[in-house]
Amino acid sequence: MRKAQLYINGTWIEEPRAAELVKNPYTGEVIGEQQLATPEDVDRALACAFDAKKEIARIPAYERARILKRASMLLEERKETFARWISEELGKPLKNTLDEVSRSIETLEQSAEEAKRLFGETIPGDASARGTKAVAVTFRVPVGVVAAITPFNAPLNLICHKVGPAFAAGNAVVLKPAPQTPLIAAELLKLLLEAGLPPRAINMVLGGAEVGQQIVKDDRVNVISFTGGVVASRNICALAGMKKVLLELGGNAATIVHEDADLKRAAALCAKTGYSNSGQSCISVQRIYVHESVVGPFTELLKQEVEALKVGDPLLADTDVGCMVDERAADRVMSWIDEAIASGATLVCGGKRRGATVEPTVLFNPPKRSKVVCEEVFGPVVSVIPYRTIDEAIAETNDSAFGLQAGLFTNRMDIVYQVVEALDVGGVVVNGTSNFRLDHWPYGGVKNSGIGREGPRYAIEEMTEMKMIVWQFPQ
Ligand code: SIN
Repeated sequence: MRKAQLYINGTWIEEPRAAELVKNPYTGEVIGEQQLATPEDVDRALACAFDAKKEIARIPAYERARILKRASMLLEERKETFARWISEELGKPLKNTLDEVSRSIETLEQSAEEAKRLFGETIPGDASARGTKAVAVTFRVPVGVVAAITPFNAPLNLICHKVGPAFAAGNAVVLKPAPQTPLIAAELLKLLLEAGLPPRAINMVLGGAEVGQQIVKDDRVNVISFTGGVVASRNICALAGMKKVLLELGGNAATIVHEDADLKRAAALCAKTGYSNSGQSCISVQRIYVHESVVGPFTELLKQEVEALKVGDPLLADTDVGCMVDERAADRVMSWIDEAIASGATLVCGGKRRGATVEPTVLFNPPKRSKVVCEEVFGPVVSVIPYRTIDEAIAETNDSAFGLQAGLFTNRMDIVYQVVEALDVGGVVVNGTSNFRLDHWPYGGVKNSGIGREGPRYAIEEMTEMKMIVWQFPQ
């Protein structure tokens, strides 16, 4: 049985604490337990980070880069083990978790590279008549303490996306991983320490929303970097006061399939990226707007692709769709499917569940205000919705509280231009679906999808301040 302990002030906490069992959501088997932080533990973690921040800021960039690079190499050596651990703890198929570990290796590697690129600029003063004998030089300096609050759906890579850039920038970190996936967070922390991360550069506290709230309210924190849901993010903003808040939130991502699209490719990619990790990704394909002239053949192709997905044990190498994070999540998704069908949607395939596993489901033409269309499903449910004109597809895509990423299948440059210009989202994937992300790209959204961008280079910018030195020369 594995154990996730609190890590505070350079020490794994051995004294007894209230504990919670961690179960494999596919089998129900107990696989470990986590300690739960008391308010005093959280306070000590924050005090340690606050006290250590100057010492962490003094570590030179080449050394920060070396540590992160070593961490990425250690993870490469242990790739299969980490992938199995995530699959057991989350029910995410091995295919997806191997991919997640590969991405985490890159995220750490890119954070290492970016640690050496904290550049500033030289700004001559003579743009002003008062500055003919002056010049300014800017630097990036660490903010101090970064609070990293991470979700369950990519429990390794999304920690790397916060801890990697935070340390690359020279900050101390207080990490609160998702309560559903504490074991993998503890394993990553052990690996980072083995790679040479200074013990006081990071603290880890475990628990639920109350732990997150205590961290968010505390004025020793400079930047809060949160990935999760909109409701929690609103609470964070209400409690954060003057702190900078970075939010990577959800979406009900749309992909548009235009009349000239390669339908076979579009259907294959929608099936692959609408159901990976049971749809538990913020950019998972959720709404597919298809031109009415091709919606029939597209839906048939999609159905064939989706029915060919292998549903089952996340630990088997050929499983495409495992289970959801827990049965409660499966209950919610099933009730949304039922609501859509009751209000007029046609069930194309799927629609059943067993335990925490929900079959990959395709719905045709659910009403605009049904939950599967206008809220974030975060489950293996995709809706196909016909449109007549590209303006209509754009308007429907934008008629959302969210705006993270969107996909577009077309070979027409005029349509690409029109759609990219008009969509209110953080990124448009042309000839691909919404669910495509490389970890060095800027990732983030507009509206309820968040504030700020991740991707090591962009996160480092958010986790540093600009500092200016001005030189005045004798007249
Ligand atoms: C997320 O759910 O925001 C993460 C998606 C990804 O990194 O692929």
